[in-house]
Amino acid sequence: MADTIGTILFTEKQIQKRAKEIGEEITKEFAGEEVILIGTLKGSCLWMADIMKAISLDVKIDYIWASSYGSSTTTSGIVTIKKDIETDLHGKNVIIIEDIIDTGTTLNYIKNQLKERNPKCVKICSMLDKPSRRIADVQGDYIGFEIENLFVVGYGLDYDQKYRSLPYVSFLEG
Ligand code: IMP
Ligand code: MG
Repeated sequence: MADTIGTILFTEKQIQKRAKEIGEEITKEFAGEEVILIGTLKGSCLWMADIMKAISLDVKIDYIWASSYGSSTTTSGIVTIKKDIETDLHGKNVIIIEDIIDTGTTLNYIKNQLKERNPKCVKICSMLDKPSRRIADVQGDYIGFEIENLFVVGYGLDYDQKYRSLPYVSFLEG
């Protein structure tokens, strides 16, 4: 089956404008302090790049890779860490940078793991949020855009590892 890329939902320009607004919000909230941005592999790559440029503070970055078993469009409840961070989080302001919050299972697991390392705080910054799908008790602190329960690709988001490099978020029409 040839997958077709459907209607564009958010353009690069819209996403970068939103990232700038969120970056300014973070800059104000943590004025004078350092923040550690932890990107979730692999989907957060482009959003991470936009967010880190938009924050005018001392910024350090790291990456974590957690995966939950399941099919390519849904997640199971079982999460494992495939690559951990290398940064000491003790007393730090931590912001997890995520591509999309769906059921929240993966993010909830990551947040709890990071909280155990005694940071000053752990916030969540996600490009997209599908609140109608939430199972786990987790919510974003900085959300780019809320979307309906539809499968989207592009700007880091994949379907079967494809489409991550598209410079926009689009519906996937199979
Ligand atoms: P959760 O644990 O159910 O919140 O799953 C989150 C992860 O599932 C995201 O980081 C994505 O990798 C993937 N995911 C959820 N919804 C979508 C989507 O619409 N498009 C692409 N990936 C998605
Ligand atoms: Mg992901």
